[in-house]
Amino acid sequence: MIQIIVVLILAYLLGSIPSGLIVGKVFYKTDIRQHGSGNLGGTNTFRTLGVKAGLAVTIADILKGTLAAALPYLIHVDMNPLIPGVLAVIGHTYPIFAGFRGGKAVATSGGVILFSAPILFVTLVAAFFISLYISKYVSLSSMIAGIIGIIYVITMGFVQKWDIPLLIVITLLASFVIYRHRANIRRIVNKTEPKIKWL
Ligand code: G3P
Repeated sequence: MIQIIVVLILAYLLGSIPSGLIVGKVFYKTDIRQHGSGNLGGTNTFRTLGVKAGLAVTIADILKGTLAAALPYLIHVDMNPLIPGVLAVIGHTYPIFAGFRGGKAVATSGGVILFSAPILFVTLVAAFFISLYISKYVSLSSMIAGIIGIIYVITMGFVQKWDIPLLIVITLLASFVIYRHRANIRRIVNKTEPKIKWL
């Protein structure tokens, strides 16, 4: 029992590491929460500090989810990796180390999926970039990837085998991603959401 609690706490703390804040403050003397969308994620880091910083933060945020999902395996605890994965996403979104103001759950959720269902991860990345190519909106593409994730897991249930824990978690994560993008949805509707220019 104590091991399970340790895994859950570690997963939350891991998710709470504010990569965007650390990269911004240490290497650029900038708090990215004061710029752009104010979000503590990879996209706002790209927007505010450029490609190198954006990539570093996105990769770090993905790895937080992957590592958290791997914790039961690493500590030899019998637990579905999706459980600490969800805790890491909560940590990333409401980080104890950054005043509970974190990211929008996209990259860290991706990291959890990368560990638990790698083919689904590749599918989501493809869906994200296809949507980004067409719409030029990162936020919309993040939400579409989440919805594609739910459709994928349901389809797999019909054609192969049902994975109910994955279906529950992907539905929770996709809903959470959409909830965290409320302001983006308003901006998309008002046509004030910034579009990317590089794709
Ligand atoms: O990963 C978050 C992204 O989907 C949107 O970020 O900064 O444009 O609100 P942002």
